[in-house]
Amino acid sequence: MSNLQDQLHRPLRDLRISVTDRCNFRCQYCMPEELFGPDFAFLPSEKILSFEEIERLVKIFVSLGVKKVRITGGEPLLRRDLPNLIERIHRIDGVEDIALTTNGTLLKKYANDLAKAGLSRVSVSLDSLNEERFFEMNGHRGKVKTVLEGIEKAAEAGLHVKINMVVQKGVNEQDLVSMAKYFKDKKHILRFIEYMDVGNSNGWKMDDVVSKKEMIEQIHQVFPLKQVEPNYQGEVAKRFQYQNEQGEIGIISSVTESFCSSCSRARISAEGKLYTCLFATDGTDLRELLRTGEDDASIIKCISDVWENRTDRYSDERNEQTMEKRKKTKIEMSHIGG
Ligand code: GTP
Ligand code: 5AD
Ligand code: SF4
Ligand code: SF4
Repeated sequence: MSNLQDQLHRPLRDLRISVTDRCNFRCQYCMPEELFGPDFAFLPSEKILSFEEIERLVKIFVSLGVKKVRITGGEPLLRRDLPNLIERIHRIDGVEDIALTTNGTLLKKYANDLAKAGLSRVSVSLDSLNEERFFEMNGHRGKVKTVLEGIEKAAEAGLHVKINMVVQKGVNEQDLVSMAKYFKDKKHILRFIEYMDVGNSNGWKMDDVVSKKEMIEQIHQVFPLKQVEPNYQGEVAKRFQYQNEQGEIGIISSVTESFCSSCSRARISAEGKLYTCLFATDGTDLRELLRTGEDDASIIKCISDVWENRTDRYSDERNEQTMEKRKKTKIEMSHIGG
């Protein structure tokens, strides 16, 4: 296995690939309707990496130490024939785990094909069980019912399902306990995510964050919890089990307890740029290398150089100064997924 390490001795283990910058939702915190309207210019198809190009990159990344691959978007299930890409990645020796992050609206349609193609896991985003609130949060596009049907279909197809809820103060905080109850009864792992200042469109303020501590307090009052050990070193979510019943939840505390010291994630945007942090401002153009006929050795050299020079630890360093420095220049979440 490759011993590639960055400046903070972090290996490269996870690759997150965005397959489209489009989405059928307009979540206020990611692609607000006012900015991503009918005239918004999404990437034309020739600028997006083809499945052949992605497959080649995954092989290269595996040779550098990657074991886990996650497909994201925008909404990845809008990309035509996605199961075909999963199949190609599944065939690559050394890929141990393939996951997909989705808003769940198209899962009912594709769950079986995805499972057959070799997908192991899905993370489905769902911010509320209240139809009205959910509709408001997703820019008046989707129903809770559709997402829940997608989740059940995915579970029936044999996929491991996790649910991601981004918690925002004054927006959906009141749904914490009802979400915990619903998914505890359904036996799916629910993860609560602290609201982050990703991208440049969401007008994030520290006051909008519901901290891990506050979330635990709220849920613990109704369903007592105990913290348990991570499943693997560097797991993003802190795990909590219910004391009196089966089941667990996770809390992703990127704001109040950052986890940069174990971050082994690289990200590729839909247009083929390599980013080494969710809060990066600049990426390295891999598409150009792929399309100008560079051989594997020179692409490997380019990626190794980027990783070996990596110093990213944005969430560890987040303060007014660091935020001001990146104002309006961060990569959008819809380009690199979560
Ligand atoms: P598994 O443990 O493999 O299930 O993966 P995960 O927790 O990394 O998966 P997922 O993509 O579902 O991550 C959930 C959310 O955590 C993302 O949507 C982000 O909001 C947040 N997150 C994941 N990775 C990072 C990261 O590198 N940095 C920060 N700041 N947040 C992250
Ligand atoms: N803070 C935290 N999580 C976010 N996501 C999108 N924007 C944010 C944000 N500002 C989450 C989505 C989804 C994943 C892709 O990232 O809800 O679960
Ligand atoms: Fe789409 Fe996910 Fe962004 Fe919502 S958070 S607009 S579902 S990509
Ligand atoms: Fe990794 Fe950047 Fe997130 Fe820190 S802020 S965990 S370096 S992606």
